[in-house]
Amino acid sequence: MTVPVRALIDCHALRHNLNRVRETAPQSQVMAVIKADGYGHGIAVVADALAGADAFAVARLDEAVQLRGQDSEHDICLLSGFYLRDHVAPMRQHRIHPVVHCYEQLALLDVTQSAGLAVWIKLDTGMNRLGFPAAELDRVCGRLSQQGILVIGVMSHLANADDPDDGYTETQLARFLAGTRDRALPRSIANSAALLAWPGTRLEWVRPGIMLYGCSPLKNHDEDELQLRPAMTLTSRVIAVKSVQRGQPVGYGSTWRAERDTRVAIVACGYGDGYPRHAPSGTPVWLGGRRAGLVGRVSMDTLAVAVDDDAAIAVGDEVELWGRHVRVTEVAQSAGTISYELLCRVAARVQREVVG
Ligand SMILES: Cc1ncc(COP(=O)(O)O)c(C=O)c1O
Repeated sequence: MTVPVRALIDCHALRHNLNRVRETAPQSQVMAVIKADGYGHGIAVVADALAGADAFAVARLDEAVQLRGQDSEHDICLLSGFYLRDHVAPMRQHRIHPVVHCYEQLALLDVTQSAGLAVWIKLDTGMNRLGFPAAELDRVCGRLSQQGILVIGVMSHLANADDPDDGYTETQLARFLAGTRDRALPRSIANSAALLAWPGTRLEWVRPGIMLYGCSPLKNHDEDELQLRPAMTLTSRVIAVKSVQRGQPVGYGSTWRAERDTRVAIVACGYGDGYPRHAPSGTPVWLGGRRAGLVGRVSMDTLAVAVDDDAAIAVGDEVELWGRHVRVTEVAQSAGTISYELLCRVAARVQREVVG
């Protein structure tokens, strides 16, 4: 075991979290979002663990093709769609269902052998990212049917569902329901936050991502409350224990100084492993069976942790950077980012281990 930083991927937790989706939205089919290498957990492992989902969604064609190589059964939705003529043949060959969200894509389909392709249509209900105006659904469906392309569903995406007090979700939902009213097509608008906090968004399909990995998608609601289990535990080891005298600084820039004589554990984990450099002093870690806080700046390969006087800490001890005791959402909040980013950024040099 020469690599100190390890990401333990817990397949039991992934399955448990999928069950939480099923319990919350029992009438809906589940499209598990496993883009960005399964939110950094490893797409092959995640797809295997989440085989109980009804379909998978990824963002890039190469991810979809890779996934099809290991999974011949599930529908695979390509959320960002396609933007080149050359994309059409592999999508047909590998039975990938792209999202069609703009007229340029329809033009590409016109000039390629696209008959037989099955697609989702995306409506823009206020995110102003991808999607046709809701009023244009009929026109788009007409064009696709002329080309022999099957429409298997209509989706939209919510901008503010993570805030249960933000009325924009209701506005977007109302636009989506109005825009799809006259069509007997399966609908999907709910991400994790929406399916948990906004029952009206559950519809025929839900598209959870982050909750499958055990992170709360909602402001002011933590994972315990939502009964989500962390799918990734990031650990490393203590490589030195120092005594820092009162008034002395720790790390680059001397951003932290000891207010009193302090024992400091140096941990083999830094931004080169994907730990956020912007995590300030006080960001929690789990060491020696209790919480402790970062001190000073995170370096490329190490970070420093202030240790209680009575804690028995030694070189070689394991540290949990995030996992069951310290949730990745806490670290993310402390560093001014979101759990999604931290999970996706775990570096290649971190050793992945799979349990369950
Ligand atoms: C179109 C789309 N649907 C669903 C999701 C899943 O969202 P979440 O991870 O917040 O559940 C994403 C993720 O960004 C997305 O882009």
